[in-house]
Parts: sequence; structure tokens; C-alpha cells
Amino acid sequence: MHAIRIIHSEHRSLAAVLHGMLHLVNEIGLRKEAPNFALFGAMVYYIDTFAERFHHPKEDAYLFKSLRLRSADAAALVDRLETEHRAGAEKIRTLQQALQRYEQGGLSEFAAFADAVRSYAAFHWEHMRTEEDRLLPLARAHLTGSDWQQIDDAFAGNSDPLFGVDAGAQYDALFRRIVSLAPPPIGVGTPAM
Ligand SMILES: [Fe+2]
Ligand SMILES: [Fe+2]
Repeated sequence: MHAIRIIHSEHRSLAAVLHGMLHLVNEIGLRKEAPNFALFGAMVYYIDTFAERFHHPKEDAYLFKSLRLRSADAAALVDRLETEHRAGAEKIRTLQQALQRYEQGGLSEFAAFADAVRSYAAFHWEHMRTEEDRLLPLARAHLTGSDWQQIDDAFAGNSDPLFGVDAGAQYDALFRRIVSLAPPPIGVGTPAM
């Protein structure tokens, strides 16, 4: 079940970026540090593309689809998580808009941006926790060996170029860019003045 390991690892990457954004927002709020918009932009772009174009579509097309076929009991939970994937796309647009307003409008737009970051992070954390605590145990219980073969192949990037090794490498590079731009303790970039 490589897919389960890959899902956990992708969740950890997303959680690290969400945690980083929250930390930066708190530091700006507390210490009035100057915002690094290149860093915020890279973080929002990462969450948008990695979650919306890579992680969620794989879950929908392979894991959720198979589990729906194997377990009637899981149907309500799969419905909820699919709905959250669609809602997440909308929420990330709100976050992008709040960032743009902050960048163009300055300090008066900071509180709304901070709220959008907190709201998105809380939403996404709850979503990932539900997948790990409730969906994956159901998948372990109900999916067959051949289901896992197909799902593992997809998550390892072997069956769809959109989810392939090249796509994965592109997100890894973006993650490293965030780490290089972010100040300690999030990354290794230059601390804000
Ligand atoms: Fe998901
Ligand atoms: Fe997920």
C-alpha cells in the first residue's frame, strides 16, 4: 500500500506550508514584520497547484472511486470529502484574492488576509485529518489487492502523466523554493527586517 504512505507524505508537505503561512501571518501581526510577498505567492501557488491539480484529483479518481464501489458504508464519507475537494478550490480562490488585496492595498488588507489564511488552514487540516483517521482505515478494510495495485500505480505516478514523476518533481522544486525563501524556523531564507 504505497499509496497510503504517499498520501501521508503529501499531507505532511501541505501541512508544512500551511503551518509556515500561519507562522508568518502571526509574526507580521505580533512583530509588524514586513511581508515577503514572493514567499506568500509561492506558498499559495503551491497549495493551489499541489492540492488542487495533483493530490485531490488522485484521491478522487482512484482511492475514493474504488472505495465507493467496495463499501456502501463509506459512501457518505466519500461524498463529504469530494464535496470538500470542490469547496477547497473555491476557498483557495478566496485566499488568492485576499493575498492580492493585501499586496496592493497594504496594511488595511492584512486582517482579511490573516483571516483567509487561518480559515483555509483550519479547513484543510480538518480535511486531511478526516482522510487519515476515517477514510484510510475504511480503505484498508474494504479494498482488495488488485484495487491497491491500481491505486498504488496511480499514486506512484505510473499510470497518468498528470500525476507522473515529472509532475511530482515540479512540486518538489516548488517546495524547495519555499524553504529557500522562508526565514527560520520555517526555512533557510533571510530573516525579515
Ligand atoms: Fe482530500
Ligand atoms: Fe488528502
